[in-house]
Amino acid sequence: MKEKIHAKFKARFGAEGIFYASAGRINLIGEHTDYNGGFVFPGAIDKGIMAEIKLNGTDKVRAYSVDLDDYAEFGFNEEDAPKASWARYVFGVCREIIKRGGSLKGFDTAFAGDVPLGAGMSSSAALESTFAFALNDIFSLGIDKFELARIGQSTEHNYCGVMCGIMDQFASVFGKEGSLMRLDCRSMEYKYYPFHPKGYKLVLLDSVVKHELASSAYNKRRQSCETAAKAMGVEFLRDADMDMLNAVKDRISAEDYKRAEYVIGEKQRVLDVCDALERDDYETVGARMYETHYGMSKLYEVSCEELDFLNDIAKKCGVTGSRVMGGGFGGCTINLVKDELYDTFIETAKAEFTAKFGHEPKVYPVVISNGARKL
Ligand code: GLA
Repeated sequence: MKEKIHAKFKARFGAEGIFYASAGRINLIGEHTDYNGGFVFPGAIDKGIMAEIKLNGTDKVRAYSVDLDDYAEFGFNEEDAPKASWARYVFGVCREIIKRGGSLKGFDTAFAGDVPLGAGMSSSAALESTFAFALNDIFSLGIDKFELARIGQSTEHNYCGVMCGIMDQFASVFGKEGSLMRLDCRSMEYKYYPFHPKGYKLVLLDSVVKHELASSAYNKRRQSCETAAKAMGVEFLRDADMDMLNAVKDRISAEDYKRAEYVIGEKQRVLDVCDALERDDYETVGARMYETHYGMSKLYEVSCEELDFLNDIAKKCGVTGSRVMGGGFGGCTINLVKDELYDTFIETAKAEFTAKFGHEPKVYPVVISNGARKL
């Protein structure tokens, strides 16, 4: 990827820059809990975004997306916002740095990535983290890693229309090879969990389905959670339990009730998984993953026919754990599979999925890797 980017950078800008990279992420469990002040359990992966960057002596950014073969030029003021959505991520990161008092100068950049877009592996967080990390380094801004993650998150909120939580950007910035991370999204305390499940593999099956309007549906879920939390008089659903929710049942809509029911259950599932991991009890980890899938499909309603189908195949094949991963509305399932079942599972999933939907799911073995870095 480095050579590919550099060839384009050199052809366009006639120079040589510095390389930075950051990663997409998986999440073992803890979905839609981050913006509810709960726990998440992500890890960075071996797929991400890489960028070459060099100061250009102007007050403009000249950016080239190698994958999309698209170019954008923009200044640093609010009214300079570019139209192309990929460029808005880069612009947003610059704006959020400036809002935090950082001063930037013009730069040239070319970037490319290998995180599949819309697959729920956070290609956008990888892009934001790459630039937040790089600009912090190049301009010696001294911004700490949590704030770099928040810069990415605010970029989503203020320039891309997604009211996301902190999980993706946190994973992309803090990721460490071989370790998952449990993050408490209220206190921001985190812990690395070396993850080498003996006798098991983690694999993603990408349905290759992307849903339009996913961001408005996501924002709507978040609103439901806030409404339910408010009715119970707590700041976050993290602080609620089922008794509290049942006490306000007739004051909130049936839909908001279901959303909150899912989040309250998910909070406990992450904690159960952490306990189970301490005992190498992967059967419990897997059982909680299936419960999460059920909740995301029936209560939170962010699954879809293709993902439910992949989940059913996993169950039928005796896979230990399986569930829709990330925000939902298309994308991947994450599967915890015993070594000896792996080949049969992948073959069966490919054959049955193709017979039903006319195309194969993509298969991505999970390799837990480092997050944002200078190359
Ligand atoms: C998206 C968001 C995250 C998180 C997940 C669901 O990936 O960006 O903040 O809410 O969905 O867990």
